[in-house]
Amino acid sequence: MTNLIRNCWYVAGWSWEFSDKPEARMIVGDPIVLFRTSKGKIAALEDRCVHRMAPLSLGRVEGDSIRCMYHGLKFDAGGQCTEIPGQDLIPKQACVRQYPVVEKSNWIWVWMGDPERADPARIADSKALDDPEWVLKTGQLEYDANYELINDNLLDLTHLAYVHANSFGADEAWSLNRPNLEVLPDGVRSSRWIRNTPPTPPLGEAAEHEKVDIWTSYDFILPGVFLLYTAIFEKGTAEACHDEEPDPNRRVLFSNFTSQAVTAVSERKTRYYYSWGPHSSQGDAEMAQAMIDVARQAFNEDKVMIEAQQKVIDTNTDVRPMPTSADKSITIFQRLMRKQDEPQDAEGDLESAAS
Ligand code: FES
Ligand SMILES: [Fe+2]
Repeated sequence: MTNLIRNCWYVAGWSWEFSDKPEARMIVGDPIVLFRTSKGKIAALEDRCVHRMAPLSLGRVEGDSIRCMYHGLKFDAGGQCTEIPGQDLIPKQACVRQYPVVEKSNWIWVWMGDPERADPARIADSKALDDPEWVLKTGQLEYDANYELINDNLLDLTHLAYVHANSFGADEAWSLNRPNLEVLPDGVRSSRWIRNTPPTPPLGEAAEHEKVDIWTSYDFILPGVFLLYTAIFEKGTAEACHDEEPDPNRRVLFSNFTSQAVTAVSERKTRYYYSWGPHSSQGDAEMAQAMIDVARQAFNEDKVMIEAQQKVIDTNTDVRPMPTSADKSITIFQRLMRKQDEPQDAEGDLESAAS
C-alpha cells in the first residue's frame, strides 16, 4: 500500500454532474470545487478559501468567477482573488490552487500533480456515451478501501470464477489460463481467450449456446481506467484462431464494451465510475440497462470482498502479498504508477517485467 499517486488524470465525475452550482469532490485527499463558467467551461479549484478556509463549494458562481459565501472574496476561474469586499488591496498570495481539468467522453478529468506535466493527450480513451458503435448505460459506486485494491481486482480477472459466479455466471475457465500482456506507455494491455465457458453475459445470439469461447481484451490505463472489449464466439473459435486475436471476419455471437474509472478519494475511500453495453448492432438501451443492473450486482460482490480485504490488511500493514502467476499485470501496473511521482529521469524496466 502506498501514497496516492498525483501525476495522473483522475475522473472527478460525469459531465452532467457539473453546472453553475459548485460541486465539492475529494481526489487523492485534496478538497476540490468544480463548476462551469458562464461559457459552460469547467473549472477546478482548491475547495478552500484563502481567507479563513471556508469551502468555496458553498460559494456562488458569478459569471466566470466564484464568490466565497462566508465573507465574499471572489476568485476567477484561474484561482486568483479579484475582489475583497471593503478592501482595495488584494495581497499577492490571495489565490487558490487551480487544477488542470478536461472534459472528455462524458467524464471530467482532473490532473492532481505538477501542472507543468498535465498533458491531455495522456487521458485514457474511454468510450463516449454517444459513440455510435455501442449502446452504453452508466453507474457508480463508492468503496471504503484504498484504490489500488480496486485496480488490482481489475488487473486480475481470474477472480470472476469465484467472486462473480452468481452475477456474471462465470465458471472456472476464467482462472485456468493467463493473459498475453503488453506494456503500453501509460498502462497494460491484457488479452486472452476463455475457452469452453458459459456465455457472460448470456445475451443476443450467445444466449442460444451453452458453452462458448470468449475473447477479452482490455487496456488498463493510469491511474485506474479499465477499457474492456469482450466478444463471444462459438466454441472452438479460440483453437481455430490459434489463441490469437480473432480476425475481424469471424462471426461474433455477442460483443460489448465497458469503460471504468477508479478514482482515489483518500487513502481509504475510492469512487468508481462505469459504463457498459452491447454493440449497437446486437442490442438496445433496454439490454444495456439490464447489463448495467448485473454489473451493479457484480461490483457489489467485488466491494464486499475488497472492503473485507482492506480490513484484514489494516490489522497488520507489514504483511506483504504473495504473488501468483496471475499477478504479473498488477506488478507491472503498480511499478508504472510509482514511476509517475518519481523524479522524471527515473527509468524502470517495465518491459522485462512483462516477459
Ligand atoms: S472564508 Fe472565504 S471570504 Fe472569509
Ligand atoms: Fe470483479
